[in-house]
Amino acid sequence: MKIVMLGAPGAGKGTQAKMIAAKYGIPHISTGDIFRANIKNGTELGEKAKQYMDQGLLVPDELTLALIMDRFAQADCSNGYVLDGFPRTIAQAEALTASLKANNDALDMAIDVDVPDENIIERMGGRRACVACGGTFHVLYNPPRISGKCDLCGGELSIRKDDLPETVKRRLTVYHEQTQPLIDYYTKEGILRTVDGTKDVNEVFAEITALLD
Ligand code: AP5
Repeated sequence: MKIVMLGAPGAGKGTQAKMIAAKYGIPHISTGDIFRANIKNGTELGEKAKQYMDQGLLVPDELTLALIMDRFAQADCSNGYVLDGFPRTIAQAEALTASLKANNDALDMAIDVDVPDENIIERMGGRRACVACGGTFHVLYNPPRISGKCDLCGGELSIRKDDLPETVKRRLTVYHEQTQPLIDYYTKEGILRTVDGTKDVNEVFAEITALLD
């Protein structure tokens, strides 16, 4: 099963992608998480990516494509994956289609988690992410069992740098300009499905599993 998650920053792609990965036994691949791990580990890639991410801009396609193609080559991708945050530009989508086609393969579904911009700023303000494992929570809508601690690994929860209101506005602009055109791209490919991302986390997941099952 090969799935792409689409949606604005904060729409809940990561939350749903982790649940899909757990239910269907496929890896969850988040380019944002991979970049953040590189930043944390002080790699050269992390240093380059940080300059763009902190400003709410996209990391250049060359860097992102090199990273994702390397990830696809790992053994756990042989039964599929759920992609979260990739592709994010038409160039990235075309590169993904071409690399799959070269192996007589194709994506099964692109799922757009639809949330209006008005809801996004509030969601981002309440998001808390685990510094150790990347687990994501929300102070109101998806609170951790113990305040400030990750349910999954017990790590410290913190506010992501790019979740400051001004940076979120920039990310939304970048999303509308560069990523939203993928809705048309995957509609033309005949694999786009849309779910209402304003519903409760479990209701959104029920809509998604109904599509996948
Ligand atoms: P990335 O990490 O991919 O960020 P994003 O796409 O902006 O998405 P987010 O992680 O912010 O949100 P999400 O949709 O996953 O929502 P979440 O589930 O956390 O990318 C970060 C940066 O890296 C980019 O800006 C760019 O610079 C760079 N980058 C990454 N990939 C790239 C690429 N391919 N090309 C170039 N650059 C790239 O949920 C948000 C909050 O809402 C959480 O608190 C959650 O608990 C809560 N929530 C979730 N669902 C619900 C619900 N149904 N109801 C209420 N609250 C909910």
